[in-house]
Amino acid sequence: MAVFRETARLRLRDFRSEDGAFIARMNSDPEVMTFLGGPMTDPQQSFDWVERRPPGFWIADVLATGEPIGWFHLRPERQEPFQLELGYRLIRSAWGQGFATEASLALLEVAREWGSPRVVATTDALNLGSRRVMEKVGMRHTADFLYDGKLPSARYEIELG
Ligand SMILES: CC(C)(COP(=O)(O)OP(=O)(O)OC[C@H]1O[C@@H](n2cnc3c(N)ncnc32)[C@H](O)[C@@H]1OP(=O)(O)O)[C@@H](O)C(=O)NCCC(=O)NCCS
Repeated sequence: MAVFRETARLRLRDFRSEDGAFIARMNSDPEVMTFLGGPMTDPQQSFDWVERRPPGFWIADVLATGEPIGWFHLRPERQEPFQLELGYRLIRSAWGQGFATEASLALLEVAREWGSPRVVATTDALNLGSRRVMEKVGMRHTADFLYDGKLPSARYEIELG
Protein backbone atom coordinates (compact mmCIF):
# COMPACT_ATOMS: atom_id res chain seq x y z
CA MET A 1 0.00 0.00 0.00
CA ALA A 2 1.43 3.38 -1.00
CA VAL A 3 1.20 5.47 2.16
CA PHE A 4 1.50 9.17 1.51
CA ARG A 5 1.44 10.54 5.06
CA GLU A 6 0.40 9.52 8.56
CA THR A 7 -1.07 11.70 11.28
CA ALA A 8 -1.77 10.77 14.89
CA ARG A 9 -4.98 8.97 13.90
CA LEU A 10 -5.06 8.76 10.11
CA ARG A 11 -3.21 7.27 7.19
CA LEU A 12 -3.41 9.10 3.86
CA ARG A 13 -2.78 6.64 1.07
CA ASP A 14 -3.22 6.13 -2.66
CA PHE A 15 -6.60 5.04 -3.96
CA ARG A 16 -7.23 1.39 -4.87
CA SER A 17 -9.88 0.14 -7.29
CA GLU A 18 -11.67 -1.46 -4.31
CA ASP A 19 -12.26 2.01 -2.86
CA GLY A 20 -14.96 2.53 -5.50
CA ALA A 21 -17.68 0.96 -3.35
CA PHE A 22 -16.75 3.11 -0.36
CA ILE A 23 -16.66 6.28 -2.45
CA ALA A 24 -20.02 5.41 -4.04
CA ARG A 25 -21.54 4.92 -0.58
CA MET A 26 -20.17 8.26 0.63
CA ASN A 27 -21.32 10.09 -2.51
CA SER A 28 -24.84 8.65 -2.21
CA ASP A 29 -25.39 10.26 1.22
CA PRO A 30 -27.51 13.41 0.78
CA GLU A 31 -26.01 14.99 3.91
CA VAL A 32 -22.44 14.54 2.69
CA MET A 33 -23.44 16.03 -0.67
CA THR A 34 -25.57 18.91 0.65
CA PHE A 35 -23.14 21.53 -0.65
CA LEU A 36 -21.76 19.44 -3.50
CA GLY A 37 -24.61 19.24 -5.95
CA GLY A 38 -26.68 16.59 -4.16
CA PRO A 39 -26.27 12.82 -3.80
CA MET A 40 -24.85 10.78 -6.65
CA THR A 41 -27.40 8.06 -7.28
CA ASP A 42 -25.46 6.09 -9.91
CA PRO A 43 -22.56 4.19 -8.24
CA GLN A 44 -20.89 3.79 -11.62
CA GLN A 45 -20.11 7.53 -11.60
CA SER A 46 -18.08 7.04 -8.42
CA PHE A 47 -16.35 3.91 -9.75
CA ASP A 48 -15.39 5.84 -12.87
CA TRP A 49 -14.15 8.78 -10.80
CA VAL A 50 -11.92 6.49 -8.71
CA GLU A 51 -10.36 5.12 -11.91
CA ARG A 52 -9.90 8.52 -13.57
CA ARG A 53 -9.53 10.99 -10.73
CA PRO A 54 -6.88 13.67 -11.18
CA PRO A 55 -3.64 13.43 -9.19
CA GLY A 56 -3.43 14.84 -5.67
CA PHE A 57 -6.24 12.87 -4.01
CA TRP A 58 -5.70 10.47 -1.09
CA ILE A 59 -7.95 8.13 0.86
CA ALA A 60 -7.90 8.62 4.63
CA ASP A 61 -8.00 5.42 6.72
CA VAL A 62 -8.37 5.46 10.48
CA LEU A 63 -5.15 3.90 11.79
CA ALA A 64 -6.90 2.16 14.69
CA THR A 65 -9.41 0.33 12.48
CA GLY A 66 -7.95 0.41 8.97
CA GLU A 67 -11.34 1.67 7.75
CA PRO A 68 -11.59 4.50 5.19
CA ILE A 69 -13.43 7.66 6.25
CA GLY A 70 -13.07 9.82 3.15
CA TRP A 71 -10.62 11.60 0.89
CA PHE A 72 -8.43 14.68 0.97
CA HIS A 73 -6.84 16.51 -1.88
CA LEU A 74 -3.91 18.83 -2.29
CA ARG A 75 -3.59 19.70 -5.94
CA PRO A 76 -2.67 22.56 -8.25
CA GLU A 77 -5.43 25.12 -8.36
CA ARG A 78 -7.14 25.23 -11.74
CA GLN A 79 -6.74 28.96 -12.42
CA GLU A 80 -3.34 29.42 -10.78
CA PRO A 81 -1.55 26.06 -10.79
CA PHE A 82 1.45 27.29 -8.79
CA GLN A 83 -0.92 27.47 -5.82
CA LEU A 84 -2.20 24.31 -4.18
CA GLU A 85 -5.84 23.73 -3.38
CA LEU A 86 -6.94 21.83 -0.27
CA GLY A 87 -10.16 19.83 -0.18
CA TYR A 88 -11.89 17.05 1.76
CA ARG A 89 -14.96 14.83 1.90
CA LEU A 90 -15.73 12.51 4.82
CA ILE A 91 -18.49 10.02 5.64
CA ARG A 92 -21.01 11.32 8.12
CA SER A 93 -20.05 8.92 10.93
CA ALA A 94 -16.54 10.45 10.94
CA TRP A 95 -17.65 14.06 11.32
CA GLY A 96 -17.07 16.11 14.43
CA GLN A 97 -13.96 14.31 15.64
CA GLY A 98 -11.36 16.68 14.27
CA PHE A 99 -10.31 14.37 11.42
CA ALA A 100 -10.61 17.01 8.67
CA THR A 101 -8.56 19.45 10.72
CA GLU A 102 -5.92 16.85 11.53
CA ALA A 103 -5.36 15.73 7.94
CA SER A 104 -5.55 19.28 6.58
CA LEU A 105 -2.80 20.40 8.94
CA ALA A 106 -0.66 17.50 7.70
CA LEU A 107 -1.32 18.51 4.08
CA LEU A 108 -0.37 22.12 4.79
CA GLU A 109 2.91 20.72 6.09
CA VAL A 110 3.31 18.78 2.84
CA ALA A 111 2.66 21.95 0.86
CA ARG A 112 5.33 23.70 2.91
CA GLU A 113 7.81 20.90 2.17
CA TRP A 114 7.00 21.18 -1.53
CA GLY A 115 7.82 24.88 -1.42
CA SER A 116 4.32 26.06 -2.32
CA PRO A 117 3.90 29.75 -1.52
CA ARG A 118 0.25 29.49 -0.62
CA VAL A 119 -2.62 27.02 -0.18
CA VAL A 120 -6.18 27.98 -1.07
CA ALA A 121 -9.55 26.39 -0.40
CA THR A 122 -13.06 27.26 -1.48
CA THR A 123 -16.45 26.21 -0.22
CA ASP A 124 -20.14 26.94 -0.47
CA ALA A 125 -20.70 30.03 1.66
CA LEU A 126 -23.24 28.13 3.77
CA ASN A 127 -20.94 25.18 4.47
CA LEU A 128 -20.07 26.31 7.98
CA GLY A 129 -18.36 23.04 8.95
CA SER A 130 -15.96 23.30 6.03
CA ARG A 131 -15.35 26.99 6.68
CA ARG A 132 -14.59 26.19 10.29
CA VAL A 133 -11.98 23.61 9.27
CA MET A 134 -10.30 26.22 7.07
CA GLU A 135 -10.26 28.66 9.96
CA LYS A 136 -8.96 26.08 12.44
CA VAL A 137 -5.96 25.26 10.26
CA GLY A 138 -5.05 28.94 10.06
CA MET A 139 -6.49 29.90 6.69
CA ARG A 140 -7.85 33.40 6.18
CA HIS A 141 -11.13 34.30 4.50
CA THR A 142 -9.98 36.34 1.49
CA ALA A 143 -12.96 36.56 -0.85
CA ASP A 144 -16.59 35.88 -1.50
CA PHE A 145 -17.49 34.90 -5.05
CA LEU A 146 -20.15 33.21 -7.16
CA TYR A 147 -19.09 29.69 -8.16
CA ASP A 148 -20.19 29.01 -11.74
CA GLY A 149 -21.53 32.54 -11.74
CA LYS A 150 -24.35 31.64 -9.35
CA LEU A 151 -23.42 29.80 -6.13
CA PRO A 152 -22.36 32.06 -3.23
CA SER A 153 -18.95 30.72 -2.17
CA ALA A 154 -16.06 31.66 0.09
CA ARG A 155 -12.34 31.51 -0.56
CA TYR A 156 -9.69 30.97 2.11
CA GLU A 157 -5.91 31.21 1.82
CA ILE A 158 -2.81 30.64 3.88
CA GLU A 159 0.64 31.98 3.05
CA LEU A 160 3.34 29.42 3.70
CA GLY A 161 6.45 31.50 3.06
C1 LIG B 1 -16.65 19.54 6.18
C2 LIG B 1 -16.11 18.24 6.78
C3 LIG B 1 -14.95 17.73 5.93
C4 LIG B 1 -15.63 18.52 8.20
O1 LIG B 1 -15.03 17.35 8.70
P1 LIG B 1 -14.82 17.09 10.28
O2 LIG B 1 -13.84 16.00 10.43
O3 LIG B 1 -16.14 16.96 10.93
O4 LIG B 1 -14.17 18.48 10.71
P2 LIG B 1 -13.48 18.79 12.12
O5 LIG B 1 -14.08 17.91 13.17
O6 LIG B 1 -12.01 18.80 11.95
O7 LIG B 1 -13.94 20.31 12.36
C5 LIG B 1 -15.27 20.70 12.10
C6 LIG B 1 -15.53 22.03 12.78
O8 LIG B 1 -16.68 22.63 12.20
C7 LIG B 1 -17.67 22.82 13.19
N1 LIG B 1 -18.95 22.63 12.52
C8 LIG B 1 -19.42 21.52 11.93
N2 LIG B 1 -20.64 21.75 11.42
C9 LIG B 1 -20.93 23.05 11.70
C10 LIG B 1 -22.05 23.89 11.44
N3 LIG B 1 -23.12 23.44 10.77
N4 LIG B 1 -22.01 25.17 11.87
C11 LIG B 1 -20.93 25.64 12.54
N5 LIG B 1 -19.84 24.89 12.81
C12 LIG B 1 -19.86 23.61 12.40
C13 LIG B 1 -17.36 21.79 14.24
O9 LIG B 1 -17.95 22.13 15.48
C14 LIG B 1 -15.83 21.88 14.26
O10 LIG B 1 -15.38 23.06 14.87
P3 LIG B 1 -14.85 23.08 16.41
O11 LIG B 1 -13.73 22.10 16.50
O12 LIG B 1 -14.44 24.48 16.63
O13 LIG B 1 -16.03 22.65 17.26
C15 LIG B 1 -17.21 17.15 6.82
O14 LIG B 1 -18.32 17.65 7.53
C16 LIG B 1 -17.65 16.71 5.46
O15 LIG B 1 -17.04 15.84 4.84
N6 LIG B 1 -18.76 17.29 4.94
C17 LIG B 1 -19.34 16.87 3.67
C18 LIG B 1 -18.45 17.15 2.47
C19 LIG B 1 -18.06 18.60 2.39
O16 LIG B 1 -18.90 19.49 2.58
N7 LIG B 1 -16.79 18.81 2.07
C20 LIG B 1 -16.25 20.16 1.95
C21 LIG B 1 -16.54 20.74 0.64
S1 LIG B 1 -15.80 22.35 0.49
